[in-house]
Amino acid sequence: MSSKTRLWDKGQPLDERILRYTAGEDHILDARLIQYDVRASIAHAGMLHAQGLLSEADYAAIETGLSALAESHAAGEWRISLEDEDVHTALEGRLTAAIGDAGKRIHLGRSRNDQVLVALRLYLRDAAQQLAAAAQTTVTALEDLAGKQGRIALPGYTHMQQGMPSSVALWAGAYVTELQDDIEGIQRTLLRINLSPLGSAAGYGTPNIPVDRQFTADVLGFDKVHEPVTAVQLSRGKAEASLVFELSLLMQDLGRLASDLLLFYTQEFAFISLPDNMTTGSSIMPQKRNPDVLELVRAASATMQGSLVEIMSITAKLPSGYQRDLQRIKSPLFKAIDLAEDSALIMANLVNGLSFNAENIALDPSVHAAGDANKMVVEEGISFRDAYHRVGEAYKK
Ligand code: ARG
Repeated sequence: MSSKTRLWDKGQPLDERILRYTAGEDHILDARLIQYDVRASIAHAGMLHAQGLLSEADYAAIETGLSALAESHAAGEWRISLEDEDVHTALEGRLTAAIGDAGKRIHLGRSRNDQVLVALRLYLRDAAQQLAAAAQTTVTALEDLAGKQGRIALPGYTHMQQGMPSSVALWAGAYVTELQDDIEGIQRTLLRINLSPLGSAAGYGTPNIPVDRQFTADVLGFDKVHEPVTAVQLSRGKAEASLVFELSLLMQDLGRLASDLLLFYTQEFAFISLPDNMTTGSSIMPQKRNPDVLELVRAASATMQGSLVEIMSITAKLPSGYQRDLQRIKSPLFKAIDLAEDSALIMANLVNGLSFNAENIALDPSVHAAGDANKMVVEEGISFRDAYHRVGEAYKK
């Protein structure tokens, strides 16, 4: 495709290195935004038509043309190229090539600045639901495990020392509750995500044309229009950061679950068995069955926190209005989303595959010390402090 395809092209070729640097990874990253940019563009064209700014015939051609492009992209028939620069240019260029002059009429009353935001928010809406569903698979796996093996006794550890009696049900129940909390956190991010940026255009509205912001917000199912227009670019990165923050908490819980399982899987503990197809081998030690996958889940919360810091550092201290810096949010955002989803699905697999070996789990008799002291208080009416000392003496011997 020639340099003429870039929306802002004024006839002079762009320095090749500058094109590569400014487009960055967009031609790869934006692939996941195509269906959303198409949906938002069709809604925008519908609004232009309703406002008398686009003929019926042009609107119909735009709708058909964009839908066909979404389908042919999904079928692998074309990709965004580096020369396209980004998803918005790629779609508009191909639309105009396919339907002629009508294609040139779509870009009225909008800018790539509100376009990228609307596509991102539509994507984030789906991503949040998908992430919640992925985390739910781990919750369900833990509930099933508790149903099957919940009655097996486990030591309850503090400071990694046996402290009180616990059980597989109590242990799994803790993760169930906290993962449900993470899911609620992910769902709450929708409050930030679900505001319509369309019609803010470059960030200052659309002088002299009657753009109906409520129309596109309704068509796209947004809770409300993001107002005033100047708030829209100031908000870029906030919904992203809040989702990735929730994903950091999710990843932390999954990582701690992995950490428990790593301990339980050591030869010394041997509390659990894992199926062969979930462990990996060693190149030198023929007997090894390594739980690498759990180690990688444990390490993933570092990646998640790194992504969060990256996103927040990009926006911190930026002046208001659109700045190209904002483009760099996409990479850590997508990385975090993909990693969290994969990790939750993987942990569900592992939990479904593991089993506790009751015969290897020995509780030290001392785990009953606190219970014994409680019993003395109830039965003999003495203070807990006295009971504590008496039981302490007894366990010394
Ligand atoms: N790829 C850009 C981004 O993600 C799209 C918006 C470009 N806008 C502009 N004025 N150059 O931010």
